[in-house]
Amino acid sequence: MSLPDYIHSPTVAAQALGFGDPATAGIVPAIHPSTTYERGADNTLLSGRLYSRADNPNYEPPEAVLTRLEAGAATAVFSSGMSAATAVFMALKPGDHVLVPKVIYWALRAWLLGWATDWGLRVESVDTTDPAAVEGSVRRGQTKLIWIETPANPTLVVSDIEALAEVAHRAGALLAVDSTFATPVHSLPLLLGADLVMHSATKYLNGHSDVIAGTVTTREEDAFWGRIIAVRSQAGTVLGPFEAWLLLRGMRTLFVRVAAQSRAAMRIAEHFEGHSGVEAVLYPGLTSFPGHRVAARQMQGGFGGMLSLRVAGGAPGALSALGRLRIWKRATSLGGVESLVEHRASVEGPQSATPADLLRLSVGLEDADDLIRDLEQALK
Ligand SMILES: Cc1ncc(COP(=O)(O)O)c(C=O)c1O
Repeated sequence: MSLPDYIHSPTVAAQALGFGDPATAGIVPAIHPSTTYERGADNTLLSGRLYSRADNPNYEPPEAVLTRLEAGAATAVFSSGMSAATAVFMALKPGDHVLVPKVIYWALRAWLLGWATDWGLRVESVDTTDPAAVEGSVRRGQTKLIWIETPANPTLVVSDIEALAEVAHRAGALLAVDSTFATPVHSLPLLLGADLVMHSATKYLNGHSDVIAGTVTTREEDAFWGRIIAVRSQAGTVLGPFEAWLLLRGMRTLFVRVAAQSRAAMRIAEHFEGHSGVEAVLYPGLTSFPGHRVAARQMQGGFGGMLSLRVAGGAPGALSALGRLRIWKRATSLGGVESLVEHRASVEGPQSATPADLLRLSVGLEDADDLIRDLEQALK
């Protein structure tokens, strides 16, 4: 690891901070499947490692790279985005009050309103796009965490990280940001005052639809961080070494992938704004989008590869357009090299608050003209 200090984030990612295989001088790290580590005759750990439910050489490179990209103090990789997010809430204590967004990844909402509430967390949903509403919902001495997701899944609404960090800190609470849609290419929440940043690394960080993973990065290695790490090793929500290795490989191309996906998403959004087959295009890059000004302030170099279309003709219109697509793949998830589309309300089920006419698009790396043409023929 002899890279100069001045390197920029795309260099950090492409060279994985210089991590390779010291044993062979290989320029990519080896995979370390060992679950346990030997002790010497004096009973001390020879490598400092004990057991792979706590640490493994394959966790370290993606953790170090992401810590650097997010300008944080430390990162932990988890077995999924959900286990990363839930570790943050599990590090709280029964009776603690948390504020979470009204628009939030639906499985996390279900977990918060189900398990977390059963275990004694006091979970309150609030419109996090309105800092005054969040401030009004804070319970002094009781609110320990404000969780936001920006841009949010699936309506892309934007929350003001800097303003909400101030609200959280005035109340003695932490601000955690699910930055899965924004990625460290476009947004650095810790530099805007957030305390924790979480990713579903299944999405853009890995980028190839072949790993389920999650991450949490902290601004400070404090006692709360120690509890998050303890949740991971005690609950055993660790990533397998091969998945960690794949994640690092995916992260090497993060900057070129996300830049291209954001450019194409912007073109698609502009193309379909005002289109007769579309009621509304939800994309933070459009100046007409309600969260655009905040997004423009807190996102650099683009607005991400996710957008949603509200299709004319309600749910039947959306579902028949979905059925006519030939290049976009009908599948859940996002952030991969292939473009995906889904009717979120069907996936989220009867409790869903997502508009029934909404199709969520994850823009991949195909030719943008091909993607636009496919949508054109589907939306007529
Ligand atoms: C914004 C967001 N956060 C968290 C998650 C959960 O991540 P995972 O599926 O890796 O558990 C998802 C998954 O779609 C997501 O979109």
